[in-house]
Amino acid sequence: MKGFFITLEGPDGGGKTTQAKLLLEFLEEQGRPGLHTVEPGGTEIGRAIRALVLNPRWRQMASRTELLLMAADRAQHVAEVIRPALAAGQVVVCERYVDSSLAYQGYGLGEDLRLIDQANELAAGGLLPDLTIVLDVEPATALARTACRTQRDRIEGRGLEFQARVREGYQKLCAAFPERMHLISAEGDVKAVHRRIAELVASRIPGRG
Ligand code: TMP
Repeated sequence: MKGFFITLEGPDGGGKTTQAKLLLEFLEEQGRPGLHTVEPGGTEIGRAIRALVLNPRWRQMASRTELLLMAADRAQHVAEVIRPALAAGQVVVCERYVDSSLAYQGYGLGEDLRLIDQANELAAGGLLPDLTIVLDVEPATALARTACRTQRDRIEGRGLEFQARVREGYQKLCAAFPERMHLISAEGDVKAVHRRIAELVASRIPGRG
């Protein structure tokens, strides 16, 4: 069976983890159990990188450093988890991937998009998702959802204007890659959002065999 690579993207507080879990349940019901993984932090090395890159203590971290740490996490993740799972015919559901670097470090922080493409290429060796779902949510709604956390991480703490640029970045990416990337509204009912995602995935994922 051929593997299938799905990524879930969107701003912090968009409900990616909840939707990833519901999608995995749906896939299991369809007889295609999948692997749930995340960036940054989908490997043991990645979890060490995540703790470093998101620590609010490192206020002085340069945007280029941030980009390269995300790329280092991705390189390990692709080599250790994603490629082997796809080669074994699994469905991979990954929260965040190359488009997060474009949206956050590119549109959010203003790093050159071509440099980010190069960093992504270096990390992922050209491996792109078969399908990318971007959960779209108003920055104010998203920020309110993360407000209940005891402490916002270094990137969540960047505020409304940053999150608005990230959202706009995702919208531009969806317009530029309409075949692979799909914007789905994440406002409102969790189950309704899940139904939209499940419908899209069912229409794209190849059958068994
Ligand atoms: P998470 O909270 O959704 O796990 O993501 C952690 C943070 O890392 C989130 O604020 C987005 C950010 N991020 C980037 O800025 N660039 C990247 O390439 C990735 C993968 C995540």
